Amino acid sequence: MVKTHDMNRHFTDVSSVYRGVRTTDREPVERIAMVLKGLPCPKGADIGCGPGRYDLLMFETIPELHLTCIDANRAMLEQVRALLAAKGIDAFETRQSTVEELELEASAYDFVSSFNAVHHFDFRDFLRRSRDGLAASGHLLVYTRLPAQNARTIWGRYFPGFTKKETRLHELADMQRWIEDTPGLRFVNATSLRYPRRSSLERLVEQVRSRHYSTFALYEPDALEHALAVFQKRVRDRFNGTVEWYDENVLVHARRNND
Ligand SMILES: C[S@@+](CC[C@H](N)C(=O)[O-])C[C@H]1O[C@@H](n2cnc3c(N)ncnc32)[C@H](O)[C@@H]1O
Repeated sequence: MVKTHDMNRHFTDVSSVYRGVRTTDREPVERIAMVLKGLPCPKGADIGCGPGRYDLLMFETIPELHLTCIDANRAMLEQVRALLAAKGIDAFETRQSTVEELELEASAYDFVSSFNAVHHFDFRDFLRRSRDGLAASGHLLVYTRLPAQNARTIWGRYFPGFTKKETRLHELADMQRWIEDTPGLRFVNATSLRYPRRSSLERLVEQVRSRHYSTFALYEPDALEHALAVFQKRVRDRFNGTVEWYDENVLVHARRNND
């Protein structure tokens, strides 16, 4: 079991490099913009916002957006504030809170989003707290990857121990059931998204060393170096120069009932 304070320290350590080592996908944000189309001045809360790469993309994609950026980690919130301010965006506030302690203003939000973060929370607690913050018919949008999708990444296929270490990701059937079991929420749909990726081995090694997925922080340093050496050999044997694979994610959409 990963200790919460160890993970929080991991996120503090990676906060200043995180945006540079992760790939930001436009599709989920474009889909969220479609869901919100027609709502004047949508008000949202992004939970587990990290350094704000998806918050910036939402501001660039969703007109008249107002956003509350929420994260447990202070260093991440400093990054999000600096990023949005540097782009001249001021229709946001930041809030330091864990999901487990979060109390959103009741029925105040048109949508709640969370990108690449729900495997760090108690998902059912996250659902209840998001529901309380949502206005009637408000939208809950969760972007994450499923265990099988994780297994098909370059890391799942070639990095020793990666899928075994990563036990936190949720199955879609579980997420759907937890949504349906939460009074006041209903499941709308789940959309799988698939992206072709290409990279160099050097860049992949750099991403591991900067722990771009928190899964890498679950290895002891020696074990990580050993696994990295095996990964490099496997990738060299399989690919000639450019490394190509598909990443997959799912966008889960739920709504607050009109009660
Ligand atoms: C993998 S990062 C994703 C960040 C961002 N959404 C993105 O996609 O770039 C997960 C984030 O969740 C935050 N987090 C982890 N546990 C949390 C909790 N219990 N409550 C709130 N935030 C948490 C971490 O501090 C981190 O910023």
